[in-house]
Amino acid sequence: MANPRRNSYSNSTENPFQLQNHSRISSIKHFLKKPHAFPFLLSIFLFLAWVSLRLQHSSSRLSSSNSLHWSKEEDEKANLIRFKSGFLSSNDKRGWLLDPVSIALESGIKGGAVSCASIHVGEIRPGGVRGNHRHHTCNETFVIWGAKTLFRVENNQIVDKGYAEVIVGADEVAVAASPSGTAHALVNMDPTHTAYLLGCQDSTINYNSSTTDFSVWKDL
Ligand SMILES: *[C@@H]1O[C@H](CO)[C@@H](O)[C@H](O)[C@H]1NC(C)=O
Ligand SMILES: *[C@@H]1O[C@H](CO)[C@@H](O)[C@H](O)[C@H]1NC(C)=O
Repeated sequence: MANPRRNSYSNSTENPFQLQNHSRISSIKHFLKKPHAFPFLLSIFLFLAWVSLRLQHSSSRLSSSNSLHWSKEEDEKANLIRFKSGFLSSNDKRGWLLDPVSIALESGIKGGAVSCASIHVGEIRPGGVRGNHRHHTCNETFVIWGAKTLFRVENNQIVDKGYAEVIVGADEVAVAASPSGTAHALVNMDPTHTAYLLGCQDSTINYNSSTTDFSVWKDL
């Protein structure tokens, strides 16, 4: 008589993996056929859609910043210093935070405000222009970020034009200064992103007096 005990033993040990695997697959199949699998499938689909959107977004950001050509010389003429926002926040998981007055002083940006008697913070929507004016009674220091933004500042050393201008990328943070008596303008050139600015002025401006010239440049 054959040894039934041995037989059953060898049967159950022969391919437990296959058996287990098979039953797992069939239970998954069974699960997917049930209506309560729908939210599960939907969440997988949404996750994949999110991943592909993120990839697309980061690649478009990359290409937009790659297409910006800038040089230190141009930035110096425009009295501006720029940082990659990722560089500024590399030591702080919460994001970047900066002191524009000390950054301007340390990086040799001239003619900015040393103290803020008046502060303006705001946004510039795509296509919007801010400034394009000349204050005669204050020095001003700016922080610009959030979108592809043109910064123009009067500079009488630039022959013909009389101004310097640079473009700040959407992934950059710029600190710039416009000394008393020089005109400045900010233009959001970005098709989608909103630009943000902070302006620190070393005196309080009365906008309806003649201490400011408005609409300095007609091409903006
Ligand atoms: C602006 O800066 C200059 C020096 O850079 C300083 O003499 C002047 O007092 C500052 N403030 C105003 C309101 O002009
Ligand atoms: C601005 O002008 C208006 C009207 O001319 C005047 O009433 C107001 O006092 C002025 N504001 C300041 C801060 O001078």
